[in-house]
Amino acid sequence: MTAPVTIQFVETDLDRLEGAAGRVVVFLGTDGKMGAAARKVDRLTRGALKRVAASDTFARLKAGEGLDLAFPAGLAAPVLQVIRLDRKDDVAAARRAGATIGRMLGTDGALVLADAVTLAAELSFGLALRAYQFTDRKSRPPETFGGVTMMVNGPEAVAAEAAPLAALAEGVFFTRDLVNEPANILTTEDFAARLAAMQELGLDVEILEEADMAALGMGALLGVSLGSETPAKLVVMHWNGGGDEAPFALVGKGVVFDTGGISMKPAGGMEDMTMDMGGAGTVAGVMRTLALRKAKANVVGLVGLVENMPDGRAQRPGDVVTSMKGDTIEVINTDAEGRLVLADVMWYAQDRFKPTGMINLATLTGAIVVALGNENTGVFSNDDPLCNAFLTAAKAEGEGAWRMPLGEAYDGVLKSRVADIRNVGTGREGGAIVAAQFLKRFVRDETPWIHLDIAGTALSKGETVLAPKGATGWGVLALNRLIRERFER
Ligand code: BES
Ligand code: MN
Ligand code: ZN
Repeated sequence: MTAPVTIQFVETDLDRLEGAAGRVVVFLGTDGKMGAAARKVDRLTRGALKRVAASDTFARLKAGEGLDLAFPAGLAAPVLQVIRLDRKDDVAAARRAGATIGRMLGTDGALVLADAVTLAAELSFGLALRAYQFTDRKSRPPETFGGVTMMVNGPEAVAAEAAPLAALAEGVFFTRDLVNEPANILTTEDFAARLAAMQELGLDVEILEEADMAALGMGALLGVSLGSETPAKLVVMHWNGGGDEAPFALVGKGVVFDTGGISMKPAGGMEDMTMDMGGAGTVAGVMRTLALRKAKANVVGLVGLVENMPDGRAQRPGDVVTSMKGDTIEVINTDAEGRLVLADVMWYAQDRFKPTGMINLATLTGAIVVALGNENTGVFSNDDPLCNAFLTAAKAEGEGAWRMPLGEAYDGVLKSRVADIRNVGTGREGGAIVAAQFLKRFVRDETPWIHLDIAGTALSKGETVLAPKGATGWGVLALNRLIRERFER
């Protein structure tokens, strides 16, 4: 697994600034006031910081943005990075400031002079999240990042605050690695093995094989997997950090590759379908975080792992499968496979665990990308309190989420001539909502439920504030916060 960069918190030692070998980072407020470390840097550089503070370039920087001074006189450092940050700036600004450091981090690491920074732990979190690179498939990996030393006021207290955030960063990295990994490496078997390895962290991990799922009647999930050489698996991860109350359930779509099956996708861009296990990847990242920070809550994570391939044994358009719930489904389009997988895993989750609530995540529809682009996940829910709590958590973490409607009026297009329901509507209209209505059929009335369609947010074509191009890890932060605020005492 890609490990977050090591960050050490130490007391400020002004004598170490002059000779520091890596990058040196200082912070300036808009009022031009400097902390002790910044004043020392200003003296060593003969007033360079004061000149920055008085410049138009600095005035144009947003909170958390910075600029680089190369080979500054008076310092051994090759670069002095100056970041704009005020004491009153919020968590988002502190994380952005950290990301500004993480984005530029090199082999020599950095000395961060954060003695005047109030949200130093949040800053370290932003730094860790942005200093991610997926290098496991490079034969000559680019150099790894050097370590970071942060000089802060009260290093023990800052380190204590940073510990749960480090657990969160590890969870996000786990999700990103899984999503970035190609499908010839991340087979269902490899995926399940990586989840089973989390038993070392104190999670209970169970793996249901195809025979187990057949015995449970999971014809919808198993139908998707018929064309693949890598076997279907249902992995159940238990984190029992609460009392004896019923757990909260997280369910993920884990299609390790989606060719579309017999209803095959066009070649252009098909390689992106290595990310079609993004829902499962996010569930895995949240479970890892809960275990690492020993969360005081009961959460069960379930992921349906399959590969959607065309083959002589693959399911055909027109096939009728029977779900664990008992509903029969006419598979009109084998490319609408995610909902078939989720139907069985969600039913199993409710049947076995009677959860207090359930959230499923899935890269489910291209239609949600048309509707919301790459900035917001589509949020569908049958329960306003749970949904509002989730939206609040996502907002606090800066993860875009936008509520979409549900409604029986959309069900008409899912009527089947031969079976109880078909797996796609009759046209493309409202495709993300029709998919959500399909899923809702497999949610019990008494289960508070949220469906998150992350097709547009799991992967980014360019860098974001907290991630390089590629897998974002969207949702790990919001779900971790929701669990902390709703279930932990
Ligand atoms: N995995 C895709 C959805 C997807 C599209 C994810 C783009 C990420 C980016 C899903 O299985 C799919 O193929 N959905 C179809 C449904 C259609 C056949 C009703 C789609 O969106 O085209
Ligand atoms: Mn598909
Ligand atoms: Zn898919």
